[in-house]
Amino acid sequence: MSQRGQFSSKAGFIMAAAGSAVGLGNIWGFPTQAASHGGAAFVLVYLIAAFLMAYPALMAELIIGRHARANVVSALGRANPRPAVRLLGRFTGYYGVAIASLILSFYAIVAGWMLAHLGQPIATALGADSVGQWLSGDSHSRNLLGAATFSAITIAVVSQGVEQGIEKWSSRLMPLLIAILLLLIGYVFTREGAVEGLRVYLLPDLARATDPKLILNATGQAFFSLSLGVGTMLIYGSYLSREENLPRIGAWVTLIDVSIAFIAGLLIIPALYVAQAQGVTIFDDSGQLIAGPSLILQVLPSLFTSMGDIGLVIAAAFFGLMSIAALTSSISMLEVPVSCAVEQTGAGRARITLLVGAIIFALSSLIIFNFEPLFGWVIELTTVYSQPLLGMIFCLFAGWAYHRNTLLEEIKQGDDCQIEQQLFWKIWPFYVRFICPLLICACLIQSLL
Ligand code: TRP
Repeated sequence: MSQRGQFSSKAGFIMAAAGSAVGLGNIWGFPTQAASHGGAAFVLVYLIAAFLMAYPALMAELIIGRHARANVVSALGRANPRPAVRLLGRFTGYYGVAIASLILSFYAIVAGWMLAHLGQPIATALGADSVGQWLSGDSHSRNLLGAATFSAITIAVVSQGVEQGIEKWSSRLMPLLIAILLLLIGYVFTREGAVEGLRVYLLPDLARATDPKLILNATGQAFFSLSLGVGTMLIYGSYLSREENLPRIGAWVTLIDVSIAFIAGLLIIPALYVAQAQGVTIFDDSGQLIAGPSLILQVLPSLFTSMGDIGLVIAAAFFGLMSIAALTSSISMLEVPVSCAVEQTGAGRARITLLVGAIIFALSSLIIFNFEPLFGWVIELTTVYSQPLLGMIFCLFAGWAYHRNTLLEEIKQGDDCQIEQQLFWKIWPFYVRFICPLLICACLIQSLL
């Protein structure tokens, strides 16, 4: 037997999987989507989408992964002995590996901006104003250095392996992330304008809750946020001990992800309104709340600057928070191609991680030098089209390619409370066969129109 990595404990797994799920999508994506789509109406629909759609799909990945104990290409390739299904499985696996790598290539650029903005207040506090200006400006050199630094940290963690790298760092960083988040919320609520922001975030515009566009956005956000569709959760599941109760552990990960997204909204939206009270513009020309990169890269930094010296501390805390969230997610993305290459070639993890990481950094550089045509296109190709498509195929594999009893037996392992009697057992198989694929298909058609 080769020595496959394994998470050392349930808590370690939950930290790593929740670390993967909690990322820029939660702290940046979710609050701004909520603010521009009817506040609490979006939050409500998101909650329903997360538990009714994303959770069953997450379970499909975790169950396939733990059953196969292999990377995504081998796992799907072995689901069913029929040659056509094997071929489709391997093809889907490689597609997932490619998409995970592409997601990392743009994610590393954005995370590099976070690192640079984390360095800026530190440089300013040390009196190196010109360095601070360079870090918060927008230049190829700054973007390259940011992405390179972030990629190097990601590579360093992943090359240490599952337990010593991914689990150890996720378990250290996740509590820190929650602590910084709560402290920042506490601070923002001492400032004028925060309550107005809270109203916008939490007052439901219930008429919009049935808007199909809102439902689709919420579903897409839930899929991105739970890192679904590219084999991330599958590979994490493959490192999980047979003794753990999968449905319960998956529910914990979903709950943590949703809660942190919701709590991040209590920071970002009130902070925007605090900025407005300071005279910073927070609406774009069409009267919509600014939601794109300028929200994080201009609006919030203007707010921090207006706060004087304490603003330096707050800025460092905020961009530290963003960098941590990004790192625990990026390691899960890199693990997808790395696990595949290690298991297919038998080469050493450290060397493979460096090689794969370097290739992905080369892609990031390509995007940095051709930002206008490539950046938006890569995001759209990966998150809008490929992730839902792959998520759908994963569900179809779990529902149809495996023999029904194979996966149900897998769920039974580590079950201490007679799962046959439970709701999960009764509805999940039906869900992954019919409901999830159909709903994802509806989302895809809508995004193509
Ligand atoms: N879920 C993370 C976020 O919310 C991003 C992420 C991590 C991801 N791994 C992924 C997205 C795999 C898609 C696929 O930011």
